[in-house]
Amino acid sequence: MLKGKDIINTAQFSLQELDLIMNTAVSFEKRVKDGEVIKNMEGQVVAALFFEPSTRTRLSFETAANRLGARVITVASAASSSAAKGESLADSIRTVDGYVDVIVMRHPMKGSAQIAADNAVHPFINAGDGSGQHPTQALLDIYTIRKEKGTLSGHTVTFVGDLKYGRTVHSLGYLMALYGNKMIFVSPKALRMPEEITADLRSRGAEIEETDDLKKALSVSDIVYVTRIQKERFENPVEYEKLKGLYIINRALIDQAKKGITILHPLPRVDEISTDVDDYEGAAYFRQAHNGLYVRMALLALVTGRV
Ligand code: CP
Repeated sequence: MLKGKDIINTAQFSLQELDLIMNTAVSFEKRVKDGEVIKNMEGQVVAALFFEPSTRTRLSFETAANRLGARVITVASAASSSAAKGESLADSIRTVDGYVDVIVMRHPMKGSAQIAADNAVHPFINAGDGSGQHPTQALLDIYTIRKEKGTLSGHTVTFVGDLKYGRTVHSLGYLMALYGNKMIFVSPKALRMPEEITADLRSRGAEIEETDDLKKALSVSDIVYVTRIQKERFENPVEYEKLKGLYIINRALIDQAKKGITILHPLPRVDEISTDVDDYEGAAYFRQAHNGLYVRMALLALVTGRV
């Protein structure tokens, strides 16, 4: 079903494809935890091209490839590639495509994922394109929600923070809509979810409320998805200074939230979740980061037809 396909954004997925990804990830999680030496991608090479900083996405993709028996070639920064000499993205991708079986790429430009996919014969996976999308994050988010809550439907989900530049919320919004969840968007006015995304989600039947009242939103939410203010996307640092720290989740706030609320965050965090929340049992953000390994194993194996 996914063999040979590119992963560009979350609007592309059907429920059947998502089921396949989730079930494949469950299987790989079990095999890794059982200590199996997995060889699904033996003989294959994965390119991990990261033109923007990353800890979780790059290292979990590289671990996923290694755990599958593949080898990895890496660009860990734009400065270390010929992008620094002015090479176009299209030329770089056409070159790398001749070396490998699948390409994973993070790039600061919104829309770069489609350009890269259009210039690759092999499957391409978007690991974050500027303020556009981060589909593999959203897939690990729903894997986590399924594990933490037992179901992907019927939840009220609050998204809080930088909804304008935060590509993870753009991606997860589509999946939450597909599964019929209610969404509450909490942000400063300057960082609201882009109107074209809100309108598109509503046209797909999503129930959406927008507010700046975080405490009230948390009182009715089953899940809160917290995001960092994306400092690197601001043209004016003064604007960033004005907006940072407006919404901080601390233990006192969680104690007043709906009982059993699950807290997710794609990480890295700066100060938007206080460390006094970390030992709350519903604080799932480090479990979420670990789940990325199994979901990315599933994606690599599925798009290369090795599962
Ligand atoms: N969540 C996420 O994309 O983290 P990194 O930026 O560390 O990859």
